[in-house]
Amino acid sequence: MRTRRTFGRDLLAATALAGWKSRGGLFADAISIPSSEFRGAASLRAHAAARSLYVGSAVNTGLLEDDSGYRRTVVEQCNIISAENAMKWAALRPGPEQFDFALADRFVAFAEANGIAVRGHNLCWHEALPTWFTGTVNRDNAEQFLTAHIAAVAGRYQGKIRSWDVVNEAISLADNEPGGMRNGPWYKVLGPRFIDIAFRAARAADPRTLLTYNDYGIETDGAADTAKRAAVLALLARMKHDGVPLDAVGIQSHLSVDSGGQIGSGLNEFLKEAARLGLKVFITELDVNDDSIGEDNPKKRGEQVAALYRNYVGMLLGNRAVTDVLSWGISDGSSWLNAPGAKFRARHSGREETLSLIHI
Ligand code: XIL
Repeated sequence: MRTRRTFGRDLLAATALAGWKSRGGLFADAISIPSSEFRGAASLRAHAAARSLYVGSAVNTGLLEDDSGYRRTVVEQCNIISAENAMKWAALRPGPEQFDFALADRFVAFAEANGIAVRGHNLCWHEALPTWFTGTVNRDNAEQFLTAHIAAVAGRYQGKIRSWDVVNEAISLADNEPGGMRNGPWYKVLGPRFIDIAFRAARAADPRTLLTYNDYGIETDGAADTAKRAAVLALLARMKHDGVPLDAVGIQSHLSVDSGGQIGSGLNEFLKEAARLGLKVFITELDVNDDSIGEDNPKKRGEQVAALYRNYVGMLLGNRAVTDVLSWGISDGSSWLNAPGAKFRARHSGREETLSLIHI
């Protein structure tokens, strides 16, 4: 029977199958056609649709346009996609008064043409701000800049975006601000109210898109994740209490084979609390970093990565609030973890990679 709970097992089947039968191998040729067993009715997209779930990946728009194998994989496997970078401020805002929607427009049109839903990522973040931001945005004009950006961007794609990451990564306990707020560029000029401003502007621009607060480091039962999860939950509860329009929480889910804490009771409790607040829950940026396994044993690494995907996705889908699962990159070769100069991964030159949801 096709149930939500068996979806995790299907994912394992998918990773195992595609992983060992048609591994592309090294980065250069990793983007290739997935094995035939992993298509059509056996694709992630079909599994997801059969369970009324959204499953997909962040998409590199450059590869989407230049690489037909990559494009084919996205269409075959995803019924939802997000843009890895193309909808961030730095991509959309060449100048304080300018917008460049060319790439984002093509991305949204591609999704529409292929019957794929879109997650908007993102409207407000402390990273990927344009170079002009610091010298231009100040206490006096910040609210105007934030609301004008959101009105223009969310307004342009009104009705075409299933969910928007309205605010991304606003909590950072290390910054020692009240409520665990990150002392980021928007917080510095507007204080904590930037969050409510952003969500209200997003609701005004697109009445039906699912407005999402998205964050990382809230997955495990380790001390740091546990504390951050509590701060995120307090923020969500406060927003609901104050009548701020909020529909969903995104759990980024950048996992690691040695994440330093079990994944279980803490996250399960969080899911229940989120559901109690009336929120949907999305897995928004799922990937597994296997960097800590130093030895070059691709089979062993592949098994551990697949097991973590299976257990994690299976556990979360056990809660009905969880409706969407997106990985952060559809293949090893296109994952940010393997990009030149990537922050979170050593370079294991020439070693076979095993980290992505879909091994091709
Ligand atoms: C990353 C992209 O994958 C990289 O290409 C880019 O250089 C930096 O941003 N959390 C997020 C994403 O919300 O936007 C980040 O994406 C990964 C971490």
